[in-house]
Amino acid sequence: MPIERFFLPPANRTAVELAPPNRRPLEFHRRMPGYVATPLVALDGLATSLGARRIWGKNETSRLGLPSFKVLGASWAIYSVAIERLGREPEWQTISQLREAFATLDPITLVTATDGNHGRAVAHIAKSFGFRAEVLVQQGMAKARIDALRAEGAHVIQVDGSYDDAVDESAAHAEKEGGRVLLSDTSWEGNTKVCDLIVRGYSTMFFEIEDAISEVDSEPIDIVFVQMGVGSLAAAAVAHYGAFHPRTKVIGVEPDSAACLFESAKAGKIVKVPGPHLSVMAGLNCGLASFATWPMLQAGLSAYLTLDDASAVRAVRALSKSGLAVGETGASGIAAAMELLGDEARTLEKESLGIGEHSNVLVLLTEGPTDPASYGEALSRPTVGPKSG
Ligand SMILES: Cc1ncc(COP(=O)(O)O)c(C=O)c1O
Repeated sequence: MPIERFFLPPANRTAVELAPPNRRPLEFHRRMPGYVATPLVALDGLATSLGARRIWGKNETSRLGLPSFKVLGASWAIYSVAIERLGREPEWQTISQLREAFATLDPITLVTATDGNHGRAVAHIAKSFGFRAEVLVQQGMAKARIDALRAEGAHVIQVDGSYDDAVDESAAHAEKEGGRVLLSDTSWEGNTKVCDLIVRGYSTMFFEIEDAISEVDSEPIDIVFVQMGVGSLAAAAVAHYGAFHPRTKVIGVEPDSAACLFESAKAGKIVKVPGPHLSVMAGLNCGLASFATWPMLQAGLSAYLTLDDASAVRAVRALSKSGLAVGETGASGIAAAMELLGDEARTLEKESLGIGEHSNVLVLLTEGPTDPASYGEALSRPTVGPKSG
């Protein structure tokens, strides 16, 4: 069964007051070397075969020199932390001017846990700004992802446990060593500030989508499928559409084996889903929702669904046929769209979300093939079993 579980939250949920996103992160990103607005692709073949008016794919497989959107959040958060330490926003046009301004600070060492993309982004920006990065990773992380972290100059620390254990150890490590800045893309009670900045950094993607669509189509997006690990990306989607297009429905997508937000939504409180989390959608292998973003998702998501690995693999293959090389995590949003739109047994759910042939759908292609071995396997086999690590 491709869509394993589906949850429609009750309509009478408590609203959460959200500060509307602003364009400051976008303006900052525009000044970063190599910035271009990533392409918004019309996936017309898929739209026709699935019976939707439009399917837009925001292609984040190459962003500021990295193969995932994650650098948008890491860069804005690191920049914000550094200017706070400096006590002012320096004048800069080039990255070397920015590095010079930051060189006046006491040395900064950033610490984070990662399931791949966020840590790589932190290490990449640390290198550009002249800071150090220490990145904690779970046991069994794909070698290609560890090599990519080291290639960015990160000091990689392997943890005996899951991604969630790596998050706990990153906080303990930062405290024990002292003088560290914890740059976590998830949050817990008492530690939400950096995660909030990361969510704001992701807003760049949604403003770019807004600008690109307004040039070619008069109709707004009806449905957004957004993949969820700890929920920070989904929080950025909810914040954007909640503020600017409240009729747009945001649907959260998780691997069935790591569905911490799905379980939390059903329980009405944050629930931990114990590992091991071995989905091929490696960026979503998280067992605990981010504390800061959970209330936003609880109030703002229109539905939650969980997928098996085979549906992510089908989506990888479909995108590859359309000429797009997208990794399994990156393809999970379109995987959910393919499974839901094509599923006749879900007619009631689709009706209640207003999904039909008039629908304008947005999916986020959030990463390229960051683990080439797993990607190659996805292309060569129609279905896969559980990931071995
Ligand atoms: C490629 C990719 N897409 C989506 C996500 C989900 O983001 P979040 O953990 O903020 O829910 C991740 C998380 O690492 C990711 O790496």
